[in-house]
Amino acid sequence: MADPALSILHITDTHLFAAADERLRGVNTCRSLRAVLKSASTAARPVDAVLATGDLSQDESAGAYRRFRELLAPLAVPVWCLPGNHDAPERLAATLAGPPFQVGGAVVRGGWTLLLLDSVMAGDHGGRLSAAQLDWLAAALEEHRQRHVLIALHHHVLPLQSRWLDELGLYNAAELLQVIDRAPQLRAVVAGHVHQASDILRNGVRFLTTPSTCFQFLPQVASFAVDRRPPGYRWLELHADGRLETEVAWIEPPQ
Ligand SMILES: [Fe+2]
Repeated sequence: MADPALSILHITDTHLFAAADERLRGVNTCRSLRAVLKSASTAARPVDAVLATGDLSQDESAGAYRRFRELLAPLAVPVWCLPGNHDAPERLAATLAGPPFQVGGAVVRGGWTLLLLDSVMAGDHGGRLSAAQLDWLAAALEEHRQRHVLIALHHHVLPLQSRWLDELGLYNAAELLQVIDRAPQLRAVVAGHVHQASDILRNGVRFLTTPSTCFQFLPQVASFAVDRRPPGYRWLELHADGRLETEVAWIEPPQ
């Protein structure tokens, strides 16, 4: 193989509960995640690693994170995680401590570096990158200048023409854009939170969001509405030469 790509399964907004039979907006989130993982692990391409971009729990319980751990561990691949607004970041980090899980920080694989950010603001559904996170990011981008870089965070950075959601995006997106505009090696910024797929090219960088593994929000509406689309996920193929190939997949909703 001339160019063995790193094939990453991107899952997001799993909204798990401590109780296995709990539902959110009519969806059993545990069953739904299990169905997504089954679909992805029986697909034609390999799962070399999993990227999970927050709202892993709905009830912020250690039990929800233990459930996440139990569902993901059998894949026997690295699982790179970060928290969302429905998470308890410290509980998440404590429950998912140690391999195959990594919460936050930098991941180096082949010619790529993935930088996992925490955009959670306590008591707020919108997000903000702290000065410490922005400083860490700037230093990491400097250190990994010779590599291809993907940034992951929970909150979406660019508006998606959905007023209610855009009001709950990354409040200091302008500060993030200022930092990343100085990083020509940055290839993509990947987020969750919006329960819908989007793909926007800005200054040569792909800004991607991914459907939730449970239920979706209706795109491009002024106020909150649930979409009838099924659970979904995204493939990210990172090539050694810096190319990024990506595709969204949808599954049959489990009964
Ligand atoms: Fe969220």
